[in-house]
Amino acid sequence: MRDKISQIKKEYLEKIGKAKSLTDLDTIFLALFGKTGQITQIPKEFPKIPKEDLKIITPLFIATKKELEQEIDKRRQEIREESYRKLENEKLDLTQTKTIKKQGHLHLATQFKKEIIDLFESLGFSQFDAPHVEWDKYNFEYLNVPKDHPSRDLWDTLYIDTSNLAVEPGQMALRTHTSNFWPRLMEKGQTPIRAMSFDRCFRYEAVDARHSHTFNQFEIAVVGENITMANLKYLSDYLLKAILGKEAKSRFRPKYYPFVEPGVGIDSLCVFCHGKGCKICSGTGWFEIAGAGMIHPNVFKFTKLDPKKYSGLAWGFGPDRILMLKHKFDDIRYLLEGDLKFLQKF
Ligand code: PHE
Repeated sequence: MRDKISQIKKEYLEKIGKAKSLTDLDTIFLALFGKTGQITQIPKEFPKIPKEDLKIITPLFIATKKELEQEIDKRRQEIREESYRKLENEKLDLTQTKTIKKQGHLHLATQFKKEIIDLFESLGFSQFDAPHVEWDKYNFEYLNVPKDHPSRDLWDTLYIDTSNLAVEPGQMALRTHTSNFWPRLMEKGQTPIRAMSFDRCFRYEAVDARHSHTFNQFEIAVVGENITMANLKYLSDYLLKAILGKEAKSRFRPKYYPFVEPGVGIDSLCVFCHGKGCKICSGTGWFEIAGAGMIHPNVFKFTKLDPKKYSGLAWGFGPDRILMLKHKFDDIRYLLEGDLKFLQKF
Protein backbone atom coordinates (compact mmCIF):
# COMPACT_ATOMS: atom_id res chain seq x y z
CA MET A 1 0.00 0.00 0.00
CA ARG A 2 2.85 2.37 0.82
CA ASP A 3 4.28 1.77 -2.64
CA LYS A 4 0.90 2.35 -4.21
CA ILE A 5 0.53 5.69 -2.40
CA SER A 6 4.06 6.72 -3.41
CA GLN A 7 3.36 5.68 -6.96
CA ILE A 8 0.14 7.74 -7.11
CA LYS A 9 1.95 10.69 -5.62
CA LYS A 10 4.85 10.51 -8.10
CA GLU A 11 2.57 10.03 -11.12
CA TYR A 12 0.18 12.81 -10.22
CA LEU A 13 2.72 15.37 -9.10
CA GLU A 14 4.21 15.01 -12.57
CA LYS A 15 0.79 15.36 -14.24
CA ILE A 16 -0.05 18.42 -12.15
CA GLY A 17 3.26 20.04 -13.11
CA LYS A 18 2.52 19.49 -16.79
CA ALA A 19 -1.11 20.65 -16.66
CA LYS A 20 -1.67 23.52 -19.08
CA SER A 21 -5.19 24.57 -18.27
CA LEU A 22 -7.76 24.64 -15.52
CA THR A 23 -9.64 21.93 -17.41
CA ASP A 24 -6.54 19.69 -17.25
CA LEU A 25 -6.45 20.27 -13.50
CA ASP A 26 -10.15 19.47 -13.15
CA THR A 27 -9.56 16.16 -14.90
CA ILE A 28 -6.62 15.40 -12.59
CA PHE A 29 -8.64 16.38 -9.54
CA LEU A 30 -11.48 14.06 -10.53
CA ALA A 31 -9.05 11.20 -11.23
CA LEU A 32 -7.74 11.59 -7.67
CA PHE A 33 -10.61 12.83 -5.57
CA GLY A 34 -13.72 11.94 -7.59
CA LYS A 35 -16.12 9.18 -6.46
CA THR A 36 -13.94 6.51 -8.01
CA GLY A 37 -10.76 8.59 -7.75
CA GLN A 38 -7.46 6.95 -6.86
CA ILE A 39 -7.14 8.77 -3.54
CA THR A 40 -10.84 8.25 -2.68
CA GLN A 41 -10.44 4.51 -3.19
CA ILE A 42 -7.49 4.05 -0.85
CA PRO A 43 -9.22 4.28 2.58
CA LYS A 44 -11.67 1.65 1.34
CA GLU A 45 -8.83 -0.82 1.56
CA PHE A 46 -7.79 0.16 5.10
CA PRO A 47 -9.93 -2.49 6.85
CA LYS A 48 -7.84 -5.12 5.10
CA ILE A 49 -4.57 -3.70 6.39
CA PRO A 50 -3.00 -4.74 9.71
CA LYS A 51 -3.31 -2.09 12.41
CA GLU A 52 0.44 -1.89 12.79
CA ASP A 53 0.91 -0.99 9.17
CA LEU A 54 -1.96 1.45 9.28
CA LYS A 55 -0.09 3.53 11.86
CA ILE A 56 2.42 4.34 9.12
CA ILE A 57 0.11 4.25 6.11
CA THR A 58 -2.58 6.57 7.47
CA PRO A 59 -0.29 9.59 8.10
CA LEU A 60 1.42 8.91 4.73
CA PHE A 61 -1.96 8.83 3.05
CA ILE A 62 -3.13 12.02 4.79
CA ALA A 63 0.08 13.84 3.94
CA THR A 64 -0.03 12.65 0.30
CA LYS A 65 -3.67 13.65 -0.05
CA LYS A 66 -2.92 17.07 1.38
CA GLU A 67 0.15 17.55 -0.79
CA LEU A 68 -1.71 16.60 -3.95
CA GLU A 69 -4.56 18.97 -3.08
CA GLN A 70 -2.13 21.76 -2.38
CA GLU A 71 -0.20 21.12 -5.57
CA ILE A 72 -3.40 21.26 -7.59
CA ASP A 73 -4.36 24.55 -5.92
CA LYS A 74 -0.90 25.96 -6.49
CA ARG A 75 -0.89 25.01 -10.15
CA ARG A 76 -4.41 26.38 -10.56
CA GLN A 77 -3.22 29.70 -9.21
CA GLU A 78 -0.23 29.70 -11.53
CA ILE A 79 -2.38 28.99 -14.58
CA ARG A 80 -4.77 31.78 -13.64
CA GLU A 81 -1.93 34.25 -13.27
CA GLU A 82 -0.45 33.21 -16.61
CA SER A 83 -3.76 33.81 -18.36
CA TYR A 84 -4.20 37.19 -16.60
CA ARG A 85 -0.79 38.18 -17.84
CA LYS A 86 -1.72 37.13 -21.37
CA LEU A 87 -4.95 39.12 -21.24
CA GLU A 88 -3.09 42.08 -19.85
CA ASN A 89 -0.87 42.12 -22.93
CA GLU A 90 -3.77 41.79 -25.32
CA LYS A 91 -5.69 44.49 -23.50
CA LEU A 92 -8.31 46.39 -25.51
CA ASP A 93 -9.01 49.75 -23.92
CA LEU A 94 -12.52 50.44 -25.06
CA THR A 95 -12.59 53.79 -23.28
CA GLN A 96 -9.89 55.24 -25.48
CA THR A 97 -11.17 57.60 -28.16
CA LYS A 98 -9.38 58.15 -31.43
CA THR A 99 -8.11 61.65 -31.88
CA ILE A 100 -8.77 62.68 -35.45
CA LYS A 101 -6.20 65.11 -36.69
CA LYS A 102 -7.47 67.05 -39.66
CA GLN A 103 -5.77 70.09 -40.95
CA GLY A 104 -7.90 72.82 -42.45
CA HIS A 105 -6.94 74.83 -45.50
CA LEU A 106 -7.72 78.11 -47.19
CA HIS A 107 -10.98 78.51 -49.08
CA LEU A 108 -10.68 77.84 -52.81
CA ALA A 109 -11.37 81.51 -53.64
CA THR A 110 -8.74 82.64 -51.12
CA GLN A 111 -6.16 80.24 -52.56
CA PHE A 112 -6.84 81.65 -56.02
CA LYS A 113 -6.64 85.21 -54.73
CA LYS A 114 -3.23 84.49 -53.22
CA GLU A 115 -2.03 82.91 -56.46
CA ILE A 116 -3.08 85.91 -58.57
CA ILE A 117 -1.84 88.51 -56.12
CA ASP A 118 1.58 86.78 -56.04
CA LEU A 119 1.60 86.70 -59.82
CA PHE A 120 1.12 90.44 -60.15
CA GLU A 121 3.24 91.36 -57.16
CA SER A 122 6.14 89.84 -59.04
CA LEU A 123 5.47 92.40 -61.81
CA GLY A 124 5.62 95.24 -59.28
CA PHE A 125 1.88 95.71 -58.70
CA SER A 126 0.74 96.70 -55.23
CA GLN A 127 -2.63 95.95 -53.66
CA PHE A 128 -5.12 98.70 -53.05
CA ASP A 129 -8.38 97.98 -51.29
CA ALA A 130 -11.19 100.48 -51.82
CA PRO A 131 -14.35 100.59 -49.68
CA HIS A 132 -17.26 98.24 -50.28
CA VAL A 133 -19.73 100.95 -49.25
CA GLU A 134 -18.72 103.64 -51.67
CA TRP A 135 -19.50 107.23 -52.62
CA ASP A 136 -21.31 107.50 -55.90
CA LYS A 137 -18.55 109.71 -57.31
CA TYR A 138 -15.87 106.98 -57.09
CA ASN A 139 -18.10 104.16 -58.24
CA PHE A 140 -19.62 106.18 -61.13
CA GLU A 141 -19.10 109.90 -61.62
CA TYR A 142 -15.31 110.04 -61.75
CA LEU A 143 -15.55 106.96 -63.95
CA ASN A 144 -17.41 109.01 -66.54
CA VAL A 145 -20.86 107.72 -65.60
CA PRO A 146 -22.86 110.88 -64.84
CA LYS A 147 -25.95 110.88 -62.67
CA ASP A 148 -29.12 109.95 -64.59
CA HIS A 149 -27.09 108.86 -67.61
CA PRO A 150 -28.41 105.74 -69.39
CA SER A 151 -25.01 104.05 -69.02
CA ARG A 152 -25.87 103.57 -65.34
CA ASP A 153 -28.18 100.80 -66.48
CA LEU A 154 -25.11 98.66 -67.15
CA TRP A 155 -24.97 98.04 -63.40
CA ASP A 156 -27.88 97.01 -61.21
CA THR A 157 -26.87 99.03 -58.23
CA LEU A 158 -27.72 98.57 -54.57
CA TYR A 159 -27.97 102.09 -53.13
CA ILE A 160 -27.58 102.73 -49.43
CA ASP A 161 -30.51 104.17 -47.49
CA THR A 162 -28.94 107.39 -46.18
CA SER A 163 -32.09 108.80 -44.55
CA ASN A 164 -30.47 108.59 -41.10
CA LEU A 165 -27.23 110.17 -42.29
CA ALA A 166 -26.46 113.72 -43.31
CA VAL A 167 -26.03 112.44 -46.84
CA GLU A 168 -28.17 113.16 -49.88
CA PRO A 169 -30.13 110.18 -51.23
CA GLY A 170 -28.29 108.27 -53.98
CA GLN A 171 -24.85 109.37 -52.84
CA MET A 172 -23.75 106.04 -51.44
CA ALA A 173 -23.91 102.55 -52.90
CA LEU A 174 -22.44 99.10 -52.49
CA ARG A 175 -19.74 99.23 -55.09
CA THR A 176 -20.73 97.48 -58.29
CA HIS A 177 -17.15 96.82 -59.41
CA THR A 178 -13.57 97.10 -58.20
CA SER A 179 -13.02 99.96 -60.69
CA ASN A 180 -13.71 102.40 -57.83
CA PHE A 181 -10.12 101.92 -56.68
CA TRP A 182 -8.47 103.67 -59.60
CA PRO A 183 -10.11 107.15 -59.36
CA ARG A 184 -9.31 106.99 -55.63
CA LEU A 185 -5.64 106.39 -56.42
CA MET A 186 -5.52 108.78 -59.37
CA GLU A 187 -6.85 111.72 -57.38
CA LYS A 188 -3.91 111.34 -54.99
CA GLY A 189 -1.81 112.53 -57.95
CA GLN A 190 1.06 110.13 -57.35
CA THR A 191 2.18 108.63 -60.64
CA PRO A 192 3.08 106.14 -61.97
CA ILE A 193 0.36 103.81 -60.69
CA ARG A 194 0.65 100.05 -60.90
CA ALA A 195 -2.09 98.75 -58.65
CA MET A 196 -4.46 95.83 -58.27
CA SER A 197 -7.47 94.85 -56.23
CA PHE A 198 -9.02 91.44 -55.63
CA ASP A 199 -12.17 91.99 -53.69
CA ARG A 200 -15.91 91.77 -53.33
CA CYS A 201 -18.49 93.61 -55.38
CA PHE A 202 -22.27 93.74 -55.14
CA ARG A 203 -25.14 94.01 -57.57
CA TYR A 204 -28.90 93.87 -57.43
CA GLU A 205 -29.06 90.44 -59.07
CA ALA A 206 -31.46 87.57 -58.57
CA VAL A 207 -29.31 84.70 -57.35
CA ASP A 208 -29.03 81.73 -59.67
CA ALA A 209 -26.32 79.28 -60.78
CA ARG A 210 -24.42 81.98 -62.71
CA HIS A 211 -25.32 85.18 -60.84
CA SER A 212 -24.98 86.38 -57.32
CA HIS A 213 -25.52 89.66 -55.49
CA THR A 214 -22.03 89.22 -54.03
CA PHE A 215 -19.06 88.20 -56.17
CA ASN A 216 -15.35 88.83 -56.65
CA GLN A 217 -13.48 90.88 -59.19
CA PHE A 218 -9.80 91.11 -59.88
CA GLU A 219 -8.81 94.40 -61.41
CA ILE A 220 -5.59 96.13 -62.36
CA ALA A 221 -4.89 99.74 -63.25
CA VAL A 222 -1.69 101.12 -64.73
CA VAL A 223 -1.23 104.89 -65.12
CA GLY A 224 1.90 106.60 -66.35
CA GLU A 225 3.57 108.01 -69.41
CA ASN A 226 3.38 106.02 -72.66
CA ILE A 227 1.06 103.29 -71.43
CA THR A 228 -0.49 101.65 -74.50
CA MET A 229 -2.78 98.87 -75.68
CA ALA A 230 0.36 96.77 -76.20
CA ASN A 231 0.87 96.77 -72.43
CA LEU A 232 -2.75 95.73 -71.99
CA LYS A 233 -2.31 92.86 -74.43
CA TYR A 234 0.89 91.70 -72.72
CA LEU A 235 -0.70 91.73 -69.26
CA SER A 236 -3.79 89.89 -70.49
CA ASP A 237 -1.73 87.06 -71.97
CA TYR A 238 0.44 86.99 -68.84
CA LEU A 239 -2.63 86.41 -66.68
CA LEU A 240 -4.31 83.89 -68.95
CA LYS A 241 -1.23 81.73 -69.42
CA ALA A 242 -0.60 81.70 -65.67
CA ILE A 243 -4.10 80.66 -64.66
CA LEU A 244 -5.25 78.57 -67.62
CA GLY A 245 -2.01 77.14 -68.99
CA LYS A 246 0.62 77.99 -71.61
CA GLU A 247 -1.74 77.32 -74.48
CA ALA A 248 -4.10 80.12 -73.41
CA LYS A 249 -4.05 83.42 -75.30
CA SER A 250 -6.21 86.50 -75.41
CA ARG A 251 -8.31 88.11 -78.11
CA PHE A 252 -9.68 91.67 -77.95
CA ARG A 253 -13.17 92.61 -79.15
CA PRO A 254 -14.47 96.19 -79.18
CA LYS A 255 -16.76 96.73 -76.20
CA TYR A 256 -18.35 99.74 -74.56
CA TYR A 257 -17.57 100.78 -71.01
CA PRO A 258 -18.01 104.50 -70.18
CA PHE A 259 -14.66 104.75 -68.38
CA VAL A 260 -12.38 103.36 -71.10
CA GLU A 261 -11.63 104.46 -74.66
CA PRO A 262 -11.08 102.28 -76.57
CA GLY A 263 -12.95 99.65 -74.57
CA VAL A 264 -12.48 95.94 -75.15
CA GLY A 265 -13.86 92.63 -74.09
CA ILE A 266 -11.02 90.17 -73.52
CA ASP A 267 -11.69 86.63 -74.67
CA SER A 268 -9.54 83.65 -73.87
CA LEU A 269 -8.90 80.84 -76.31
CA CYS A 270 -10.93 77.93 -74.95
CA VAL A 271 -8.38 75.68 -73.27
CA PHE A 272 -10.93 72.87 -72.96
CA CYS A 273 -11.40 72.28 -76.71
CA HIS A 274 -8.25 74.10 -77.89
CA GLY A 275 -10.37 76.57 -79.84
CA LYS A 276 -12.36 73.93 -81.72
CA GLY A 277 -15.67 74.76 -80.03
CA CYS A 278 -17.30 72.94 -77.12
CA LYS A 279 -20.10 73.24 -74.56
CA ILE A 280 -18.04 75.44 -72.27
CA CYS A 281 -17.31 78.06 -74.96
CA SER A 282 -20.76 77.62 -76.58
CA GLY A 283 -19.11 76.33 -79.73
CA THR A 284 -17.14 79.52 -80.43
CA GLY A 285 -13.65 78.37 -79.36
CA TRP A 286 -13.34 81.44 -77.11
CA PHE A 287 -14.88 82.59 -73.85
CA GLU A 288 -15.16 86.10 -72.47
CA ILE A 289 -13.05 86.72 -69.45
CA ALA A 290 -12.65 90.43 -68.76
CA GLY A 291 -13.67 93.96 -69.54
CA ALA A 292 -10.78 96.27 -70.29
CA GLY A 293 -9.51 99.30 -72.12
CA MET A 294 -7.49 102.49 -72.00
CA ILE A 295 -8.63 104.79 -69.19
CA HIS A 296 -10.95 107.50 -70.60
CA PRO A 297 -9.52 111.05 -70.74
CA ASN A 298 -12.52 112.25 -68.68
CA VAL A 299 -11.39 110.06 -65.76
CA PHE A 300 -8.05 111.89 -65.89
CA LYS A 301 -9.87 115.25 -65.94
CA PHE A 302 -12.12 114.36 -62.98
CA THR A 303 -9.18 113.18 -60.92
CA LYS A 304 -7.04 116.18 -61.95
CA LEU A 305 -4.38 114.32 -63.89
CA ASP A 306 -3.29 115.61 -67.29
CA PRO A 307 -4.60 113.25 -70.02
CA LYS A 308 -2.07 114.75 -72.46
CA LYS A 309 0.83 113.73 -70.27
CA TYR A 310 -0.51 110.46 -68.89
CA SER A 311 -2.36 107.47 -70.19
CA GLY A 312 -3.59 104.36 -68.44
CA LEU A 313 -4.99 100.90 -68.86
CA ALA A 314 -7.34 98.85 -66.74
CA TRP A 315 -9.01 95.52 -66.79
CA GLY A 316 -11.36 93.72 -64.46
CA PHE A 317 -12.43 90.11 -64.54
CA GLY A 318 -14.50 87.70 -62.49
CA PRO A 319 -12.27 85.15 -60.77
CA ASP A 320 -15.35 83.22 -59.62
CA ARG A 321 -16.15 82.40 -63.24
CA ILE A 322 -12.57 81.31 -63.91
CA LEU A 323 -12.71 78.98 -60.91
CA MET A 324 -15.95 77.50 -62.19
CA LEU A 325 -14.33 76.84 -65.58
CA LYS A 326 -11.09 75.53 -64.13
CA HIS A 327 -12.65 73.15 -61.64
CA LYS A 328 -15.73 72.37 -63.74
CA PHE A 329 -18.49 73.19 -61.28
CA ASP A 330 -21.58 74.88 -62.57
CA ASP A 331 -22.96 76.86 -59.65
CA ILE A 332 -21.39 80.09 -58.36
CA ARG A 333 -23.19 79.62 -55.04
CA TYR A 334 -20.68 76.92 -54.06
CA LEU A 335 -18.18 79.73 -53.56
CA LEU A 336 -20.38 81.62 -51.14
CA GLU A 337 -21.86 78.81 -49.10
CA GLY A 338 -19.80 76.94 -46.54
CA ASP A 339 -20.56 73.48 -47.92
CA LEU A 340 -17.73 71.36 -46.51
CA LYS A 341 -18.25 68.55 -49.00
CA PHE A 342 -17.41 71.01 -51.77
CA LEU A 343 -14.66 72.92 -49.96
CA GLN A 344 -12.76 69.82 -48.87
CA LYS A 345 -12.24 68.84 -52.51
CA PHE A 346 -9.76 71.66 -53.03
N1 PHE B 1 -15.73 97.52 -64.17
C1 PHE B 1 -16.17 96.78 -65.32
C2 PHE B 1 -17.33 95.87 -64.90
O1 PHE B 1 -17.45 95.56 -63.76
C3 PHE B 1 -15.05 95.93 -65.89
C4 PHE B 1 -13.95 96.80 -66.45
C5 PHE B 1 -12.85 97.09 -65.69
C6 PHE B 1 -14.04 97.28 -67.74
C7 PHE B 1 -11.83 97.87 -66.20
C8 PHE B 1 -13.03 98.05 -68.26
C9 PHE B 1 -11.93 98.34 -67.50
O2 PHE B 1 -18.14 95.49 -65.71
